[in-house]
Amino acid sequence: MPFRNRYTGLIDRYRDRLPVHDDTRIISLGEGNTPLIRLNNIPRAIGKDVDIYVKYEGLNPTGSFKDRGMTMAVTKTVEEGGKAIICASTGNTSASAAAYAARAGITAFVIIPDGKIAMGKLAQAMISGATVIQIRGNFDEGMRLVKEVADHAPVSIVNSINPYRLQGQKTAAYEIIEELGRAPDYHCLPVGNAGNITAHWIGYCEYSSASGEHVTEACAFCDGKCSFAGGSIVGNRPTMVGYQASGSAPFLRGHMVDDPDTVATAIRIGHPQSWERAWKVREESGGWFAECSDEEILEAQKLLTRKEGIFCEPASATSLAGALRDIREGHIPEGSSVVCTLTGHGLKDPDTAIAQSKETARMVTVDADLESVQRAILDNLAD
Ligand code: F0G
Repeated sequence: MPFRNRYTGLIDRYRDRLPVHDDTRIISLGEGNTPLIRLNNIPRAIGKDVDIYVKYEGLNPTGSFKDRGMTMAVTKTVEEGGKAIICASTGNTSASAAAYAARAGITAFVIIPDGKIAMGKLAQAMISGATVIQIRGNFDEGMRLVKEVADHAPVSIVNSINPYRLQGQKTAAYEIIEELGRAPDYHCLPVGNAGNITAHWIGYCEYSSASGEHVTEACAFCDGKCSFAGGSIVGNRPTMVGYQASGSAPFLRGHMVDDPDTVATAIRIGHPQSWERAWKVREESGGWFAECSDEEILEAQKLLTRKEGIFCEPASATSLAGALRDIREGHIPEGSSVVCTLTGHGLKDPDTAIAQSKETARMVTVDADLESVQRAILDNLAD
């Protein structure tokens, strides 16, 4: 008997809106279909009447939203006869590329900044059999090298400059609309290369247009690949808000930043690849960019885990940190619905989680006897 209700990934689900053919061999790990969780305790704690949802992209197969784009990029590479892929990465793209290459039976090369990627991500790239090239340089330098080397070696680039990546990532917006019945009023994302904010806007725009033809200048780059034959029409598109870490905030500075730095290593990027497109997204959606300090980012990461039980990596918490501040300050008015994308899982970066919990974690070491354990319980019971 066929298993008719088995979820087989986002390409299968949104086949009619993605550039694939009936006989395309789909490389999938069951990505997409991630939970949209309504926050209960945090809105109450800040005393504001807002509906905040988090789209928990950390629950994708390799623990980040990158899988949405990677299933498309690797599927198309294989379809076009490619045998090897390459990316520069702050960690998540490399983990995803490595996994999807393994699944497809092709070779992956990943270029990462030496010592500046989180432990979980490095582990993923290493165990999958990818060739890991650590450079004495940052992500931006890695990106430059990837572009150069792709002209001299038979490798396909699977960074978000590959237009198929954004095609896969736009499906997150589809899922949100289908679950809420409309687009949210505000959609908040962490911004590094700005590919994901662009992809979401493409998805929202396609959904809001009857014809599904190019409806945003932000995706004019994709050469017609983003159109689809008719879609459901929703009445609204969200205001897109992009948050950057203060030490890596080219969109706030108005120019590229040469020495980016932040605890949120995933978005330690000074030369965003989707620079023009992200400005278009801001303009078309009436949105804005804002920055968060490392302290605000870590505070939001901890708050989300302690108040709601949702563990995301530091970069992901940037969306919530910024949204909460904009809600408190009234830039996002009461009565609004807000979606914050949690781009990656907290387990990606255990070192930062442990380091920032050291002083506040309830952790005691006791002798292995009943009395000691009982005392530990009684001393720590909530009032
Ligand atoms: N959040 C996480 C967890 C990320 O890994 C990234 C990007 C972003 C946000 C920013 O998304 O670049 O589309 O604006 N990570 C890339 C990587 C750069 O190599 O894994 P963006």
